[in-house]
Amino acid sequence: MDGFLFIAFPYVALILAIGVGIYRRRRRPYTYSSLSSQLLENRKLFWGSVPWHYGITLILLAHLLAALFPGLAGRILGGRIRLLVLELTGISLAFYALFGLIVLIIRRLPTTSRVRHATSYMDGILLGFFLIQVATGVSIAIFERWGSLWYLRTAVPWFWSLVKLHPETATVTSLPGIVRVHFVLGFAIILLFPFSRLVHLVMFPIKYLWRPYQVVIWNRRTRKVESTEVMQ
Ligand code: HEM
Repeated sequence: MDGFLFIAFPYVALILAIGVGIYRRRRRPYTYSSLSSQLLENRKLFWGSVPWHYGITLILLAHLLAALFPGLAGRILGGRIRLLVLELTGISLAFYALFGLIVLIIRRLPTTSRVRHATSYMDGILLGFFLIQVATGVSIAIFERWGSLWYLRTAVPWFWSLVKLHPETATVTSLPGIVRVHFVLGFAIILLFPFSRLVHLVMFPIKYLWRPYQVVIWNRRTRKVESTEVMQ
């Protein structure tokens, strides 16, 4: 079972995410979107979307940077005060993201909600996975102390062994159940990427950096011009 969860499943998730992601981008490019529901409801979207996106982006960036530069991360986390400050920052960001996610879910609950009617089955699954993932992340950070440190000696070697096509699971299979659930669900979310509106992640508007700037102007005459014309 461990072989499936920590070796086969991560590879299947990654291969499908990349393969189906490219296929969808080529075949159905206009479905590569978050399908904004801003016109249906704006107030709760703001209070949900902003905390969720800022919180989760910073947390995932920390996950990624620590995996890419474990030596540097280890040195930074080596000092007691720095470890405490970074762990507290992680937990605060996690609660911030959790708050946003709960608002986004509540926004879809009422049967009369217009957003609910625009919510697909896959959106529901994705929100459910995110909720469990953030909840398990927070629980690990609180109850399985100093996760940012042991992450470097457990998950990171496992990741790199997968990258090098030489899977080594010994560092992760003996971890507590909640930690293993968090790791496997992490790959389940990667698997959902090409089948859901998560694809908008790679549509981050980096083209804005090099495309010519736009000038946005009203396509109607101002009152002043109109009144001058009337006087003439
Ligand atoms: C296989 C992939 C993943 C691994 C190995 C992993 C590992 C971890 C570990 C070890 C912690 C505890 C950190 C600490 O105590 O400071 C943690 C926390 C957390 N994780 Fe993950 N994670 C993964 C994927 C994800 C994903 C995909 C999400 C969200 C979509 C996520 C969200 C969180 C959150 C919200 C926390 C709590 C905040 C924090 O302390 O950093 N994780 N994760």
